[in-house]
Amino acid sequence: MGSEDFGPDERLPYWAEVWPAGLVLAAWLGENRDRVRGRACLDVGCGLGLTAMVASWLGARVVALDYERPALGLARTNALANRVPQPLWVQMDWREPGFRPGSFPLILCADLFYERRFFGPLLGLFKTALAPGGVVLAAEPRRGLGEQASQAFAAQGLDVERLSEQKAFCGGQGATVTLWRLVLNQ
Ligand SMILES: C[S@@+](CC[C@H](N)C(=O)[O-])C[C@H]1O[C@@H](n2cnc3c(N)ncnc32)[C@H](O)[C@@H]1O
Repeated sequence: MGSEDFGPDERLPYWAEVWPAGLVLAAWLGENRDRVRGRACLDVGCGLGLTAMVASWLGARVVALDYERPALGLARTNALANRVPQPLWVQMDWREPGFRPGSFPLILCADLFYERRFFGPLLGLFKTALAPGGVVLAAEPRRGLGEQASQAFAAQGLDVERLSEQKAFCGGQGATVTLWRLVLNQ
């Protein structure tokens, strides 16, 4: 990292590891294949690509975005190594999404609610990119701001449901992860 990485948008390389929240969301995908197969699916802040790869392997048409180019390169390598159909890896900032409105019935978020300033842009992305009746699945560790994010989203008109809470371990670290289901009110 260089000094240019420490501007107002401090870009610590959180993409460089797989997080327990990603494991929990990947497991949910595996247990809910029928809700995944054949769907257009957006993985937001995909990092190294675990959840995008699992959704793609299960038959979803996956677009996976991150604003860090090295993350996308390694995610592509991961998909090659695991012989799953390549998601469409897109370098994009979620604050300036470039999707046609209503494109995705399924949006995946793993460990993204760690800064309060993310809530507004992510809500904007959900409102734009979700197809009518679409669902956001968000896995968040307890150390983050998941509770606050869910309250903020509920106040902005999303139906918020807590699906599960479980411990997950990954790369030597553990976390209690809450899985949230967010639906736009019609
Ligand atoms: C904690 S990591 C989670 C990565 C992955 N979802 C997982 O669970 O392993 C957060 C990810 O969000 C990405 N990110 C942060 N701000 C972003 C933004 N404004 N636009 C797109 N991606 C962003 C980071 O580069 C990083 O890959």
